[in-house]
Amino acid sequence: MAIKKIGVLGCGLMGAGIAQVCAQAGFATTVREIEQKFLDKGFGFIEKTLRRAVEKEKITPAQQREAMGRLRGTIKLEDLSGCDLIIEAVVENLEIKNEAFAALDKMCPAHTILASNTSSLTIMAMAAATKRPDRFCGLHFFNPVPVMALVEVIKTIATSQKTIDACWKFCKQLSKTPILAKDTSGFIVNRLLIPLLLDAVRVLEQGLASAEDIDQGMKLGLNHPMGPLTLLDFVGLDTTYNIANIMFNEFREQRFAPPPLLTKMILAGYYGRKSGKGFYDYSGEEPVPTDLGI
Ligand code: 3HC
Repeated sequence: MAIKKIGVLGCGLMGAGIAQVCAQAGFATTVREIEQKFLDKGFGFIEKTLRRAVEKEKITPAQQREAMGRLRGTIKLEDLSGCDLIIEAVVENLEIKNEAFAALDKMCPAHTILASNTSSLTIMAMAAATKRPDRFCGLHFFNPVPVMALVEVIKTIATSQKTIDACWKFCKQLSKTPILAKDTSGFIVNRLLIPLLLDAVRVLEQGLASAEDIDQGMKLGLNHPMGPLTLLDFVGLDTTYNIANIMFNEFREQRFAPPPLLTKMILAGYYGRKSGKGFYDYSGEEPVPTDLGI
């Protein structure tokens, strides 16, 4: 059965981005949030991104209108029941995710594929909450979703090849490049990225280099678009901390353990760009390194 209607659970940064690229690729897309105010925020973000794309002449005003016309917001979970593929992008909390998946499993037709955009939880831990583990997989997008070309497609021990083939085709329809990952915490990219980000914090914490030099080093030395501390601010220190803890619990390896400085910054509310302060302070015209007393 062809994938035509998409459901997205969650309209935060990732959910909004996923919904946007689905709508732009021609899919009828329904996004569900728990409260109208979160939907309004997410839709505002999508409108702004599409408006900017029109201003830069990347898309036409007609394409902008058509994409917005394919998007629908709802606060009722049952409004996703007619979808062929539902992608979950809510907070990294297994209980919250599984409550939604168990309910969707009951209300959706047999052909519906359920997928999670989790960064670090194992997919099987969610598939087990449903009676359709063969039609359950991971679809891990990257931030900012409209820009980043990659999607990790995660196959659990129970996912059918038919499900993977359908999701692979779907990713290509979004003009993304899929890669196949096994169902292990962090999959491929976060397995490599998270230790790198945590090590950058350790280098700063140990006073080996300044935040600016760490970032310049990785930007100019390795051609990374952002240095690791800037990337931490971009992804969110709280998000990275949660991913690291989940991976540490899974592997019990020191390289996934959040360094004390990261924990302290979270306690201080320094979440990165979203809170206006992380390794850099974003309150002025240009970001400046935050005084972390090192
Ligand atoms: N939404 C939509 N489009 C965006 C955007 C956003 N949030 N941010 C930037 N863009 C677009 C711009 O409009 C611009 O588009 P154009 O080329 O068509 O004009 C393009 O991206 C480049 O943006 P800018 O010129 O403003 O800025 P940069 O050249 O510095 O690029 C960046 C910004 C794309 C964010 C780049 O710095 C980058 O690639 N950074 C690294 C991002 C990264 O590593 N992401 C992965 C994070 S890890 C992850 O997501 C996994 C998760 O599990 C934690």
